[in-house]
Amino acid sequence: MITRDEVIAALDRVLDPELHRSIVALGMVGSVAVDGSRVAITIKLTVAGCPLKAEIQRRVSEAVAVLPGVEGVQVGLDTMTDEERAGVRDNIIGGPRKDSPFGPDSRTKVILVASGKGGVGKSSVTCNLAVAMAEAGYSVGLLDADVYGYSVPRMMGADRQPVMMDDLIIPVESHGVRLMSIGFMTADDNPVIWRGPMLHKALTSFVTEVFWDDPDVLLVDLPPGTGDVSLSLAGLLPSAHVVVVTTPQLTAQRVARRAAAMADRVELPVVGVIENMSWFIAPDTGARYEVFAGGGGAALAADIGVPLLGQVPLESDVARAGDEGLPVVAARPDSAAAKELRVIATKVAQAVGLARVTG
Ligand SMILES: Nc1ncnc2c1ncn2[C@@H]1O[C@H](COP(=O)(O)OP(=O)(O)O)[C@@H](O)[C@H]1O
Ligand SMILES: [Mg+2]
Repeated sequence: MITRDEVIAALDRVLDPELHRSIVALGMVGSVAVDGSRVAITIKLTVAGCPLKAEIQRRVSEAVAVLPGVEGVQVGLDTMTDEERAGVRDNIIGGPRKDSPFGPDSRTKVILVASGKGGVGKSSVTCNLAVAMAEAGYSVGLLDADVYGYSVPRMMGADRQPVMMDDLIIPVESHGVRLMSIGFMTADDNPVIWRGPMLHKALTSFVTEVFWDDPDVLLVDLPPGTGDVSLSLAGLLPSAHVVVVTTPQLTAQRVARRAAAMADRVELPVVGVIENMSWFIAPDTGARYEVFAGGGGAALAADIGVPLLGQVPLESDVARAGDEGLPVVAARPDSAAAKELRVIATKVAQAVGLARVTG
């Protein structure tokens, strides 16, 4: 015979998919009724129409169905009251909010991904590094700070709005990465036309009002160039490291130097250069083409005195996977680009002092 306590113990091992806490501890378990071998459970969702309700229902029903003596599980859904939701918010952040969760005492390694100009593959590289690090076992946040040219939601296949818990924004999780982007807040055809102060306010709230939950690493997709956004973020993320993405072209390398100069000015260390679109291997003949000849990655790295962390080939899979919302390291893990991106992710992790994941 199954007991109510055994059911609760099983439910205690079920984590909310976005809050990563036990649903019991979060107060999401409403009623539990045991009738012989049949169990009926009511789960209180934090918000009505919670986008993850099917996933939560599945986790609950799986966790209980495997218990010996259980033959049927019924999972009903309810919604928390405002009061209960406020309780969850206090529970997960444990008291009043800090100004920036990524201050000097933070355990999170922050990595700003910068480039001189657009179109070099900065966002593609950032998304792939994020997924590679998540696959390696790190908890990963990805902040899309490219407010005018945001592309992270599309590349990560995340097309829903974040859940709000009172004043707390719960990041959208996709491919194991916690995401925040201005793209979640604006309709597709609405250009973002914010200027300095508005921009600073938005970025501040993306850092301070989002429940990042002290991840191992926070990757930030910076806008191209060296503008207001980078300066705002440097203030909000004082212990950040910078990685610069460039293509082999010498012109790209020259503008990329300005990104490194920006990092210098705000006193953030550049830990390395990633060259993207380094060459193209013809799939039919195996011939290698230097499409953007120039050796820009190595030249830039030598110029600023940091390592060249890797060279990612030009592959149609990278572009296609990005368009399909599944970064290439997950979509085509055996492709040359995916392999190189995983090596780069390991080197970046080492360079910023991320502890190796064990177990
Ligand atoms: N290694 C690559 N191989 C093929 N296409 C790529 C590669 N890297 C990026 N792309 C494509 O190039 C375009 C620009 O990349 P994106 O990541 O958006 O650049 P950025 O963020 O620097 O503007 C996108 O269409 C993307 O899919
Ligand atoms: Mg981009």
